[in-house]
Amino acid sequence: MSKKVLLLHGPNLNLLGTREPEVYGKTTLDEINQRVASYARKFGVELRAEQSNHEGALIDILHVARNWADGAIFNPGAYTHTSIALRDAISGIHLPVVEIHLSNVHAREEFRHKSLLAPVCLGQISGFGWRGYLLALDALLGSWGLLD
Ligand code: DQA
Repeated sequence: MSKKVLLLHGPNLNLLGTREPEVYGKTTLDEINQRVASYARKFGVELRAEQSNHEGALIDILHVARNWADGAIFNPGAYTHTSIALRDAISGIHLPVVEIHLSNVHAREEFRHKSLLAPVCLGQISGFGWRGYLLALDALLGSWGLLD
């Protein structure tokens, strides 16, 4: 059975490409989705990408993923630093979730250093731009024993 992965993007990430490109790069969200999907295909992984600017909608998407996904790659945007509700959603769905950030949040403002979500995630990837999403997929594949 091939694995299924949710690629979930949080608030403001729909603006990628034009939003602070010096921080987040010039790659658009669609380009990221396409690049991760084509990388995923090499491993027979089916990828479904979703984006929302709303905390509750992100929680709903995670709850639904419980019924179809084997794991998730999640850039929670600023909710990383604020959302106990998203943390509870992640710990409640019993799916491996990799937290990902385009920028190195630890090298930025102090309020970005703390992630409320990382403790309930498989791990965190931060600072490698769009390629971090490929590393996140490697992390899931590795956790399933599907990488050498
Ligand atoms: C981000 C980092 C967050 O601190 C910020 O609020 C974002 C993007 C990143 O990908 O680097 O919206 O998650």
